[in-house]
Amino acid sequence: MTILVTGARGAVARSLVSLLRERGLQVRTGSQKPEEAAGAVLLDLKNPATFDAALQGVTSVFLYAEASHIDAFVDAAINAGVRHVVLLSSSSTLSPDAADSPVAREHLDAENALTASPLTTTILRPGTFAGNATAWSWPIKSGDPVNLVYPNSHVDPIHEADVAECAFAVLTDPELAGKSYLLTGPRSVTFAEELDLIAEAIGEPVVVNTVGREEWKAEMAEYMPGHFADALLDWWQSNDNVPAEITGTVEELTGHPARGFEVWIQDHAAEFKS
Ligand SMILES: NC(=O)c1ccc[n+]([C@@H]2O[C@H](COP(=O)([O-])OP(=O)(O)OC[C@H]3O[C@@H](n4cnc5c(N)ncnc54)[C@H](OP(=O)(O)O)[C@@H]3O)[C@@H](O)[C@H]2O)c1
Repeated sequence: MTILVTGARGAVARSLVSLLRERGLQVRTGSQKPEEAAGAVLLDLKNPATFDAALQGVTSVFLYAEASHIDAFVDAAINAGVRHVVLLSSSSTLSPDAADSPVAREHLDAENALTASPLTTTILRPGTFAGNATAWSWPIKSGDPVNLVYPNSHVDPIHEADVAECAFAVLTDPELAGKSYLLTGPRSVTFAEELDLIAEAIGEPVVVNTVGREEWKAEMAEYMPGHFADALLDWWQSNDNVPAEITGTVEELTGHPARGFEVWIQDHAAEFKS
């Protein structure tokens, strides 16, 4: 039994691979840049020519939601004898406008292709990754304010280690396979509260600067297209002063409560210090 973990350079994949190897399981890692992921084979989910070799002899797959060639991936997986795919999807697919959202659509397309296939499909739908806060590390390290449009927008930050532990559970316990799981952190917090927790952890003040949508979009233009930024801003606006729904799924799958943002920032404080 070989488990293929795609996206080997990713935070969730790295944590998952450690867990699987500690359990003594046979793991193959795939990356679009194997030269940057020790021991990984070439697997670019945007390039079907890389699928067959990466899938040879594989029985289960942990899959990142890159949907551009998902049908070809499903065919290659079936041909290789894969029986179970665990998809790293997103809670955004549960939104009523998911099919029209640039944030959710990729995940939804991957979910639909897998669930329409004969493969046993397990879908992990995390909410907001605590790791998104890393985007604030540059202004914080430079002593600059953090520009936010909706500082009181609520999120359900989940630690990448908890997502990985949930993936480990569903990959290793057949009773848990073939279902969908909505994963969140242990409590709803606002962006402003996250920044207070970062300030406390690093022992430095962090200043929040409330800016308009267009100013924030201009700041982010280098990193994301305008329509994607608009979708994110709309999402944050809809959660402004609205607590996020919290689930106990991490605890059900892992046997321990989900790690809070306090734990995440303790684990990552060095990334925020100059
Ligand atoms: N950020 C959030 O709030 C959030 C919320 C819900 C779900 N998610 C999901 O979680 C993913 C990010 O997870 P993460 O934090 O572990 O990742 P990450 O650390 O940001 O790294 C990005 C990952 O995407 C993989 N990837 C990108 N393009 C790929 C391609 N063409 N072929 C194969 N792999 C590719 C990369 O793998 P290689 O470069 O090694 O191939 C890498 O593992 C998102 O893509 C999203 O689907 C995120």
